Amino acid sequence: MRTGLSSEWISELKANNDIIKIISKYANVQKKGKTHWACCPFHIEKTPSFAINEYEQFFHCFGCGASGDVIKFVEKIEAVDFYDACKILATNSHMQMPEISGDNEDIKQKKKKKETYLKMLKDTANYYHMNLVKIRPMLAMNYIKKRGLDASILKTFGIGYSLGWNEVVDYLSRLGYTKEDMLDSGICERKNNNLFDAQSKRLIFPIINSYGDVVGFSARLLEEADFAKYKNTAQTLIFDKSKCVYNINSIKNLKHENNLNEVIMVEGQMDVISLYKNGFKNAVACMGTALTSFHAREIKRFLDKVVVCFDGDNAGKQATLRSLEILVNAGLNVYVAVLPDGLDPDDYLNKNSKDDFEKLIKNAKYWVEYLINTIYSKYNHNKPEEKSKFIKESLFVIKKLSSVAEQDIYLNMLKELSNISISVLREDMRLAKDDFIEVEEKKDSALPSRDNAFLKAVKFVLAALLHKKKYAKVNGNIKESLKNPDNIMLYEYIEKMNKEGKTPIVSALFDMFDVEDNKEIYDIINYEFSAENDNLDYYEDCIKYLVKVGLEGKLQEISRALTAETDLDKRRQLSKETQMIILKLKGNN
Ligand code: CTP
Ligand code: MN
Repeated sequence: MRTGLSSEWISELKANNDIIKIISKYANVQKKGKTHWACCPFHIEKTPSFAINEYEQFFHCFGCGASGDVIKFVEKIEAVDFYDACKILATNSHMQMPEISGDNEDIKQKKKKKETYLKMLKDTANYYHMNLVKIRPMLAMNYIKKRGLDASILKTFGIGYSLGWNEVVDYLSRLGYTKEDMLDSGICERKNNNLFDAQSKRLIFPIINSYGDVVGFSARLLEEADFAKYKNTAQTLIFDKSKCVYNINSIKNLKHENNLNEVIMVEGQMDVISLYKNGFKNAVACMGTALTSFHAREIKRFLDKVVVCFDGDNAGKQATLRSLEILVNAGLNVYVAVLPDGLDPDDYLNKNSKDDFEKLIKNAKYWVEYLINTIYSKYNHNKPEEKSKFIKESLFVIKKLSSVAEQDIYLNMLKELSNISISVLREDMRLAKDDFIEVEEKKDSALPSRDNAFLKAVKFVLAALLHKKKYAKVNGNIKESLKNPDNIMLYEYIEKMNKEGKTPIVSALFDMFDVEDNKEIYDIINYEFSAENDNLDYYEDCIKYLVKVGLEGKLQEISRALTAETDLDKRRQLSKETQMIILKLKGNN
């Protein structure tokens, strides 16, 4: 398991450290009904949305989405890793940390590996950089010139170049690194038993964390090709692009120099670099992944104000909308700067002056205003039904604001845009829903409807089993229809507990999965049952549906096999199977 500590010891540790008592040391916890509530210690809020389930021993914040068991809580609040969180809890409950045993050796090994990888990545980054500075390969130099990158920028960002498939392997071998480490650090890849440079012949941008360590690379093709333009280091023990913020080290330096007013968030690293060149050293990017709450928290460590400045195209607009909720929920003050159609910040600065860009950032709109304008432009305001949709959606945004004064400012704006009186708007806002249900529904319908229904059924069935609903019984058919390995693992855990005459424990899931990064498991743990679905009929309908989808999938597989099969006996066998499945499908209806 991921911990290196025995699961028996961890269970004992959790049993000795009641989650309510531990969290109460850091937050003001109050019991309402069955649940304990607090203002979330991981984001700024005035009304408590941080719930702690005493019986199941886990917490969940409905505001920022933080979720976990008692160990996870300590990890987050004390900013320590799993092992150190266990140490804190062990001390708290007068338990001994297990002595240096085989298990513990795992963690030591892991730490040692991490150190090796970091050193290796640093050596590799230097090597790539020296390729540019010393060898000055023509292809790369031409490209650099074209993009306007001078020597000082190359140095500041440690930009480099990979000469080919094998050079880095030879170089690292000479330094004494093993092939295994070259692979596991993500620097190299293997094909037909040969190692080669994962970033071969690309321009290399090292990704540096806030401690100044190189943790991975993002690398760009220099010529048009069928391959992806950028390639990032694969996920490793130390690199996870959903958590890395490009140029965060520069943000940290600016903060130390007391020279940081806002963070400008852009889409690509070339945008970051282009801004830097023009004197805006405070830009960051998430390197092609969707923004996550990790990115948001990483920024929040240094500053509260963020200006989002994504590409001026449709994708950029969509990405802006998606990122707003995450950034706002992390407690950031979010502004949006809009670029002219079709330009990214790099393009913009190639066509306009620094002052123009400065103005753009200065005129960035507060996220609420940006959202209201975006909603406004979606509708035809000559049609009463569309106008009322605009008002409804805008009120929903305004209602989320925590101060009444702030709400008033935007109600006034809404009044100007809609010509509806403030008192009416205020009353409508009071009546409006204050959760994200409508937004969620829209997100769902973007999925193909069939997958959507399947996912919904899987989540419901697993949630009902996990949360020990009386009507939910294990059933071999469920497992057969599951596709996602994590869901299968969860199902097997529930089945195993049942077999042993026990019930599943929600907090145990945090040992099995990285829950915050695992949307499906996260949704299952925090499932919200409703009056419509919390009953046997719905449960049985879902199981029937899962079985149906499972059987139909098999049917498709067989019919594909049948088209390819020439052997007569085998064809007969396949036809028989088809008949069986069709019978089962009929029986299931
Ligand atoms: N990206 C990626 N994989 C791709 C394309 C892009 O990981 N196939 C990431 C890169 O980190 C890139 C960012 O997404 O910087 C933004 O992509 P895009 O806007 O396409 O790139 P630009 O920043 O405009 O890159 P360039 O100017 O070099 O073309
Ligand atoms: Mn670009």
